[in-house]
Amino acid sequence: QTHIVITGAASGIGKAMAEHFTARGMHVALLDRNQQQLDKLAQDLPNSLPICVDIADETQVDACFERIMSQFGKIDMLLNNAGVLNDGLLLKVKDGKVVNRLSVSAWQSTLDVNLTGTFLCGRAAASHMATNGGGVIINVSSVARAGNKGQTAYSASKAGVVALTATWAAELCDYGIRVAAIAPGFVDTPMIQQMRPDMLEMMVSKVPVKRVAKLAEMADAITFIMENDYFNGKILELDGGLRF
Ligand code: NAI
Repeated sequence: QTHIVITGAASGIGKAMAEHFTARGMHVALLDRNQQQLDKLAQDLPNSLPICVDIADETQVDACFERIMSQFGKIDMLLNNAGVLNDGLLLKVKDGKVVNRLSVSAWQSTLDVNLTGTFLCGRAAASHMATNGGGVIINVSSVARAGNKGQTAYSASKAGVVALTATWAAELCDYGIRVAAIAPGFVDTPMIQQMRPDMLEMMVSKVPVKRVAKLAEMADAITFIMENDYFNGKILELDGGLRF
């Protein structure tokens, strides 16, 4: 029996992957901070274990993985997926004056979830995998990892996720743990759907294939990483050829 942990499981990519894996008979722990959406999803998914957790909170994360281990007995894969996009421009200048700049709290809250959260869940999963036969960790980065206008904190956090991936892949191999990342461009999820239509149209026009990725295409790519034992320490770029 395969046991999977997905963070950010209540929406978008995480939800689609939870549906994908449970439909194939796998047991899936659904981690999210949105209790309401989590409970709704868990009702529809057999063999799922919903846990409301803030992945940026060390105590909550460690307790949550203990609970998963007591229910599942082992963790075969972690999809380190939860993330937020609540950034803004570094500076806004009007009439020769700086009228706004990215606040430390906005910077910090993005880093807390996207980078510290990825670290905490990766550390917790690796601790259990190392003593229970190994496993796979898939981190979710972004095409923005190389930098994108208006996304100071988000881009920095997603570049950090790439660095974690390469570092852990080298270090954790000795414990039978493989680590890789996926870097999507635009995927059809609420994160994208909440954008203004004109913004979305402008973004899609930059993608050579002229559309956002389907969730089924994400599922195929994540399954490839999961099943290919030689894919280690690298990023799978599923972005339709997009470059900012
Ligand atoms: P989404 O907004 O639909 O889902 C994210 C989920 O993460 C939500 O259910 C939310 O409640 C949960 N979450 C956020 N902060 C959390 C926390 N502190 N603790 C626990 N759960 C938390 O987002 P989407 O689009 O599915 O994105 C998933 C991942 O893919 C993110 O890391 C995002 O940065 C990345 N990504 C998404 C792209 C897109 O076009 N949708 C493109 C590139 C990367």
